This record gives sequence, structure tokens and C-alpha cells, in this order.
Amino acid sequence: MPALETCYLGLKLKNPLIVGSSGLTKTVEGVRRCAAAGAGAVVLKSLFEEEIRLEYQSISEALGGYPHPEALDWLQTDLAAHYGADSYLKLIEESVASVSIPVIASLNCVTPETWVKYASRIEGAGAAAIELNVYRLPLDPAVPSEQIEQSYIETVKAVRAQVSIPVSLKMIPYLTNIPRFSVQAHEGGARGLVLFNRFFHPDLDIVGLEPRGGLLLSRPEEYRLPLRWIGILYGRTGCDLCASTGVHEPGSVIRLLLAGAKAVQVTSAIYLYKHEVLGKMLHGLEEWMDEHGFESIASFRGKVSRFHSGRPEMFERSQYIKAFVDAE
Ligand SMILES: Cc1cc2nc3c(=O)[nH]c(=O)nc-3n(C[C@H](O)[C@H](O)[C@H](O)COP(=O)(O)O)c2cc1C
Repeated sequence: MPALETCYLGLKLKNPLIVGSSGLTKTVEGVRRCAAAGAGAVVLKSLFEEEIRLEYQSISEALGGYPHPEALDWLQTDLAAHYGADSYLKLIEESVASVSIPVIASLNCVTPETWVKYASRIEGAGAAAIELNVYRLPLDPAVPSEQIEQSYIETVKAVRAQVSIPVSLKMIPYLTNIPRFSVQAHEGGARGLVLFNRFFHPDLDIVGLEPRGGLLLSRPEEYRLPLRWIGILYGRTGCDLCASTGVHEPGSVIRLLLAGAKAVQVTSAIYLYKHEVLGKMLHGLEEWMDEHGFESIASFRGKVSRFHSGRPEMFERSQYIKAFVDAE
């Protein structure tokens, strides 16, 4: 029986499947289900700064819109301690107590002071690591791209300075130079990179003539985006690489590990095919390792990466040409 253990962010995982941050991990019961289905780790649903602010706003409105100044002071002195963060910290504590797999927290804040404050509390609650879900949509044409990318690195640095647990950054794919960014993220203190966050894209209602939204689940072929970048980054950044997007089948798990991922996150596939999909992925991975004589994940991880390709400068180019030749 091949060994499926992997080490991600310095954490020992019994296998490389991590349930991604989502509604699947927003309750202790949800976390237990993921662990029972065989997950190697879970990333909890993100704590969003806006949730806490909204909670605060509704309480303030409930107090009549013009709360007593002392009450307002009390609310404002430590927003995080009183509201959304509290239930999130409870979720961390109870999840850690309920399962034996690593529980990674996920944070999405806007203001620098909030990132830092929540990160410390998350560490105190017992999370094994923190995944930073940083997403800044560039809307101001006056802001240079470099400045936006640097703001991501600054967030990593600020959080890292506050906590001693490992910090990973869930990246966006829309960066000009992903290899440079990955090196800078590592220098800034990121222990891991999650490639990639998958965005909600807006839509329009052509009857009501207004914007409409809705988060769509990924499709199986979408694993190719993280596959490309993990294959390019493997061996060239100090960060552990973790895939997220389009992991639906054993084949994509195997490909992403071959490209150099230390772990892969699964979200949409569980929504689509239920938790049993994790067992199927693990079974498929074991079978494939058996067939190919691989006894451990480490024995084949990164084998089909730019780093091990012999001619790194041709790695991308040859795939590009081959894609066209195969298509004709
Ligand atoms: C219903 C739903 C809720 C999600 N919530 C979060 C979240 O709170 N934080 C986060 O970082 N990602 C969130 N995601 C994104 C997933 O963690 C994941 O990165 C994305 O769905 C791509 O992986 P997949 O193809 O396996 O679904 C959510 C995804 C879904 C489908």
C-alpha cells in the first residue's frame, strides 16, 4: 500500500486532500464530515471583515440608530472581540477539539489593522495555520500594478510579524509576473501559496436590466490553470504549493502532484458529488501509485515540472506548440 502522507506548511497531513474554504467548513459538523470522509486537512470558511462590520451595524441600528455614546464606544473599542470574530474563534476551537486533522483558518480583511488583529486571535484559538484570502479588485487607473501586488506582500508581512503559526497566501491568477511574486511572498514570510482563488464573475439580468451575481462551481478542466503555474513554480520558490480550482477527479490530483503540489484543495467537487468523492480520489491516487511503483508522494512530486524538464526554457513553449499540433 503506497504512503499518501505529505507535509504542507510544515504540517503533517495523512494525505494531500484538503477541503477548501467554503460553506462545507463553516460549522463544526461540516468539519467533522470532511474529516470522516478522509480529508487530510480542512480550511475553514473565511472570516470576512465585512461580516463583523455588518453585525456591528445591525446592532447599532437595533439600539435605535443613535446608540448611547458609551455603548457605541464599547462596541467600537473592540469590534472583533465582541462580534463575528468570537463565533469564528469558537468554530476554530471546537473544530480543533473535534477532529485529528489540521484545521487551517482563513481570513479576508480590508484594513491593515484588522488583518493583524484577527490573525493573532486565530492563532490563540488553536488554528494550525492561517490562509490569507486577499482579494483587491483594481478599480483606480491611477494606481500602478506594482503597488497593488506589493500591498499583498505587505499584508503577508504584517500578519507574519504577529503570529508564529504558518501563513499561506491564496493567490489571484491575474498577476503580471507570478514567479517574481511567489519569491517575494516567500521573502515576506509566506510558507505556502494556494493557486488559485476562483472568482465570482458578475453577470447581468437582461429582464430587470441590472447586475446579478452568483458563485458558480468549477468545471473539471479548470485544474489546468493551477497545473501550469505549479509546474512553473516548483523548485523556484521557497513556498509550499497547494492547488485549488478544478480538482474533481483522481486524475487531476495526480497531475497536480506530478507538477509539484504538496497538497490540493477540493471544494466544488464535494458540492457536486458529495463527500464520497474524497474517498474516490484517494483510491484512484493509490491505484495509480501502485501501477507506477511509487511508494510515496515525495517519490513523484514535481517529476513533471519545469524544474525537472531538462530544458526549462522550452517547458511552456513545447507544450504550446504540441497543443496546436495535437489539435490539427
Ligand atoms: C460555495 C463556495 C463558498 C466559498 N467560500 C470561500 C471562502 O469563504 N473563502 C475562500 O477563500 N474561498 C472560498 N471559496 C473558494 C474555494 O475555496 C475554492 O478556492 C474555489 O471554489 C476553487 O476550488 P474548486 O474548483 O475545488 O471549487 C468558496 C467556493 C464555493 C463554491
